[in-house]
Amino acid sequence: MEVILKISRFNPESDQKPYFQEFTVAAEGRQTVLDALLLARRQDPGLSFRRSCRSTICGSCAICVNSIPGLACQALLRDVAGVARRIKLEPLPRFRQLKDLVVDLDPFFESLKAVIPWVVARDDYSGQMAPDVSRKLEEPLSCILCGVCDAAMEITGKAKPAALVKGLRLSADPRDDLGAHRMRLMKAPVEILKLFVRDLPNKCPKGIIIPGNF
Ligand code: SF4
Ligand code: FES
Repeated sequence: MEVILKISRFNPESDQKPYFQEFTVAAEGRQTVLDALLLARRQDPGLSFRRSCRSTICGSCAICVNSIPGLACQALLRDVAGVARRIKLEPLPRFRQLKDLVVDLDPFFESLKAVIPWVVARDDYSGQMAPDVSRKLEEPLSCILCGVCDAAMEITGKAKPAALVKGLRLSADPRDDLGAHRMRLMKAPVEILKLFVRDLPNKCPKGIIIPGNF
């Protein structure tokens, strides 16, 4: 089928502001938005977007598809093209557009760093973890740091959504020594965290459920 991609273009060296450009590509409905973008780039090699794994693993292809943040390699053309066969593609909202669909990820990683995103080992930890605790922690471990939640959710507090996922997981980790201090680092009121935990699975491309025992 033919699909029209309406893509936000912006080159900081030549453009005052972003504009939309349309590309018509021939693709199958079972192909992804990322596949279509790769076809569009054959028409304009300067078209910029990030991607690596093409398998919803690396998190690098996060963009806005028809105004909804998600992964370009996860969105099937048959699901998003509609009867008009048109798809609007923009960079992630709440991020600065650097070029076309590429955004500035520095604030995202700064926010992550602020919650100390690694286990600070307890001296007295036995080395064992109960299976039910381990299972609970596995879910947020599947975060691929794509930034979709940061783009899709407005959160009050210091840490942005992906950092909250990391911080909440670590605060529930029995190996971690920071515990309550880590919760303070996040500076998000408990009521806000509860709403965040409730809404995240619907926004996150991996459907992540985080332990709510805080
Ligand atoms: S929690 Fe989900 S949406 Fe947020 S960065 Fe991780 S994988 Fe992406
Ligand atoms: S290209 Fe890796 S998640 Fe899409």
